[in-house]
Amino acid sequence: MSFFKYQNGAMHAEGVALAAIAAQVGTPFYCYSAGALRAGWREFADGIKGMNASICYAMKANSNLAVIRVFGEMGAGADIVSVGEMRRALAAGIPAQRIIYSGVGKKASELMEALQAKVGQINVESTAEIETLNAVAGQLGVSADITIRVNPDVDAGTHAKITTGRKENKFGIDIDLAREAFALAGRQPNLKVVGVAMHIGSQLTSLEPYRAAIVRVRELIGQLRADGHRIDRFDIGGGLGIVYADEKPPSIADFMAVVAKETAGLCCELTFEPGRRLVGEAGVLVSEVILVKPGAAKTFVIVDAAMNDLIRPTLYEAWHDILPVRESRQDTATIRCDIVGPICESGDFLAQNRDLPPLAAGDLVMIRSAGAYGAVMASSYNTRPLAPEVMVDGTRFAVIRPRPTIDEMLRAERFPPWMEPAKT
Ligand code: LLP
Repeated sequence: MSFFKYQNGAMHAEGVALAAIAAQVGTPFYCYSAGALRAGWREFADGIKGMNASICYAMKANSNLAVIRVFGEMGAGADIVSVGEMRRALAAGIPAQRIIYSGVGKKASELMEALQAKVGQINVESTAEIETLNAVAGQLGVSADITIRVNPDVDAGTHAKITTGRKENKFGIDIDLAREAFALAGRQPNLKVVGVAMHIGSQLTSLEPYRAAIVRVRELIGQLRADGHRIDRFDIGGGLGIVYADEKPPSIADFMAVVAKETAGLCCELTFEPGRRLVGEAGVLVSEVILVKPGAAKTFVIVDAAMNDLIRPTLYEAWHDILPVRESRQDTATIRCDIVGPICESGDFLAQNRDLPPLAAGDLVMIRSAGAYGAVMASSYNTRPLAPEVMVDGTRFAVIRPRPTIDEMLRAERFPPWMEPAKT
C-alpha cells in the first residue's frame, strides 16, 4: 500500500496535501509518512515472529530523531556507525543495550564513548580494531561484547559503490583470515566474542547472494566453534532493496524463509540491520519548478531541489520516479526532459531523459523513494540551506527539521582573529 496517493487530483501524503505543506514550509522539502514507516517496521517485525532474532534499524539511511523515535517506540534497536549516530539513537530513546556499533574505522575516542554509554555490541572489522578496543576497554575496566564482521566474498549484484562483501571491498575481515582474527580476539582479556557479523551490500533485489553468504558464514561458525569459540549471535546485516523503478525486491517473508532455512540448527540469535527497506519508500522530496528551458536537444526543467539535496542520481546513476503533485489528465502528451537543479555542475540532475507531462514554473513535483539516503546525504553546497524534513501522521504534519536560515549558516563560521571584521 502506498501512503503517497492522488486524492481529488492532488498528491497527498496520507491525509495531507503536499501542496499544503509546500505553502507553509516552502520548497524543497523532504516528507515522511509515519504510517509508511510503521508499516515497513511491522512487515519486518512480523517476518521474525517465532525466530530468535532482533532488528536494529540502520539509521544511516535516515537519522532524523523523529524517524528513529517511530521505530524505537515499536521496539527497534539501532545500528550506528558513529558517535554522532549513537547520540541521536539515545536522544530518540533507543536503549543503549539495543545499539550495535558498526564501521570500518572507529577511533579509540569513539570506542571509549560507546563503551561508556554501554552500547550492546560492537562489530569489529580489523585486527587493529580488536587491539585498540581491548586497550580502551581495559582503561575503562569493562568487558566489551563484540562480533567480528567477516567479508564472505560474495557478489551482491548491486551497484559497485554499494557492494560491500567482495574481497576488494574495505569491509570486514576476509573470511579466509577470520579464524586467526577470532583467535586474536579470544586472547584479549577485555573482549567477549559473542558472534559473527556480515553485510554484503545495499539495494539487493535477489536472495541468492544472502543465501551464498550465509552458507559461507555458517561453515565458518562450525570451524570457530571447533576452535573453542562461543558463537551465540549471527548478525546478517541489512541491504534488502526497495522499488525505485520496476525492481521486484523480495518480500520480507521470502527473505526470512531463506534465512531461517540456511541458519536452521545453528542455534544463534540473529540480528538484522535494515535501513533502506524501512524508510526508502516512506519518504519523498518535493520541489518547485523554477523555469522550463526548451533546448535544441531536449527540454530542461529546472527545479529548486538539486544534487546537494538528493545526490543519489548523480552518485549512483539512481533512478527516482518523479510525479507532478497536481495530477495530469491521462491523455496528456508527455515531453522528454531532464529534471535538473540550479547548481553549477552538469552532474546536478535528478532525472535524465524522462517523459513527463508538460511542467511550468510554479508547478510542484514529487521525487519518490527518497526516504533513505536522501536528507542524510545532503550538503549545503552553493550555500543552499539543507532542505527541511516534515513528518505526516494521518491528517497532521510537523516540521521535524527546519530549514536553516542563511544567517544561521553564516553565523556558524568565523573570521580568524587577524582579519579586520567585515564592514557591513
Ligand atoms: N549494516 C551495515 C553494516 C551497512 O553498512 C549498511 C549500509 C546497512 C546495514 C544498511 O543497509 P540498507 O538496508 O540500507 O541497504 N548511500 C547508498 C547506500 C549505502 C549503504 C551503506 N551501508 C545509497 O544511497 O544507495
